[in-house]
Amino acid sequence: MMPEPFRIKVVEEIKLLPKKEREKKIKEAGYNLFNLKAEDVFIDLLTDSGTSAMSDVQLAKMITTRQAYAGSESFYFLEETIKEIFGFKYFLPTHQGRAAEHLLFSTILKKGQIVINNSHFDTTRANVKLAGGIPIDCPVKDAYDTEKDLPFKGNMDTEKLESIVKKKRKKVAMIMMTITNNSVGGQPVSLENIRETSKIARKYKIPFFIDACRFAENAYFIKKREKGNEKRSIIEIVKEIFSLADGCTFSAKKDALVNIGGFVATNNKELFEKMRERLVVIEGFPTYGGLACRELSAMAQGLKEATKEEYLEYRVSQVKYLWEKLFQAKIPTLNPPGGHAVFIDGKRFFPHIPQENFPSQTLAVELYIEGGIRGVEIGTSCFGEIDKKTGKLILPKLDLLRLAIPRRVYTNSHLDYVAQILIQIYQKREKIKGLKRVYAPGLLSHFLAKFERITR
Ligand code: F0G
Repeated sequence: MMPEPFRIKVVEEIKLLPKKEREKKIKEAGYNLFNLKAEDVFIDLLTDSGTSAMSDVQLAKMITTRQAYAGSESFYFLEETIKEIFGFKYFLPTHQGRAAEHLLFSTILKKGQIVINNSHFDTTRANVKLAGGIPIDCPVKDAYDTEKDLPFKGNMDTEKLESIVKKKRKKVAMIMMTITNNSVGGQPVSLENIRETSKIARKYKIPFFIDACRFAENAYFIKKREKGNEKRSIIEIVKEIFSLADGCTFSAKKDALVNIGGFVATNNKELFEKMRERLVVIEGFPTYGGLACRELSAMAQGLKEATKEEYLEYRVSQVKYLWEKLFQAKIPTLNPPGGHAVFIDGKRFFPHIPQENFPSQTLAVELYIEGGIRGVEIGTSCFGEIDKKTGKLILPKLDLLRLAIPRRVYTNSHLDYVAQILIQIYQKREKIKGLKRVYAPGLLSHFLAKFERITR
């Protein structure tokens, strides 16, 4: 296994509260881990977003760049890097990925129009809806089989895509591809599948955009798993991916190794100019776009570091390290491991807990109580919508617990500890009961939802 291609120069203390305290804190949080204070968490695997450790070079570049309302060199550094890596002509910095999504959809979509995605992430889905659009997911069927070990379970079902496009051509405003596919387990998309999707988009003259959050991890999987790509460099693969699209939205909080930032990029000048007009109103002047100039510098440098093969090898193998420990202990993981996280199938972990009692959320709560570890439910609480007619919860196919690994932050002994706690919980799983949701707002309900423990 590739050891960390870096040494540690600065450390941050973490503390494990006594179990009694953890029980109290999670109860006060309404059994929703988003409501915990970060200082009360021992190992925080809530997200890989905005939680990366920055390099000495990133920090140095943050200090040396000028802070200017207009024309800071950080903008030109980022512009050059985006051209070099992604190849798009135009880009607009935004404060994070969802602001890029908002700009794009609010500019392109008209009420009732459709966006088809291999799988929308929750913010993407919410932004399509906010702009009056209808999000449709079109993943391959195998994506819903958590046990099957296949190389590209993040793929778009291109046959289904084309049949929807044929039926609803006038209404389809955009085709999108999320790489890697977070909602189905951080699974990668093959280059062949991106080529095929692009071909369909071009045939029917529909704009094709990529949700590029974890593009570098996806490119690494293509290099390792897809025939014909073994000898290509990561940058070569990345360049081809984006040459197949009309643009992308990007959350720099993932594969640009920064704590905040994002952008929207495109080759379409007219679209760019329309979005730029909006950007000035809602985010800021185009050479900083809702960020401090120093954040643009860190983002540009982070993009260079995250596309290095040694880094990606370490990154992906660390995620696999945790997955392997759990898989060997027969814990029902989603297979194979994703690029940024290990996912556990809550429905298979707790077969006696009905899905409407949130098995993966239950596991998230237990993991905090047992070990001070914070994961996140990506399942019934996150994606389950309320049927407007019946008032009933519509159950999504997957109910997963995600353990997202922040980039360059934890060592493998932290992950050994996580595995050990999960194994302990698995051994007493039959004694654990589910949760009842007592509060959930409309959009993105999981962030604010509250639960109670079922005691009988
Ligand atoms: N698209 C995908 C695939 C994402 O995973 C995220 C964020 C976004 C868009 C939005 O980006 O947070 O910068 O506004 N995912 C985080 C996560 C929150 O934990 O997976 P953002």
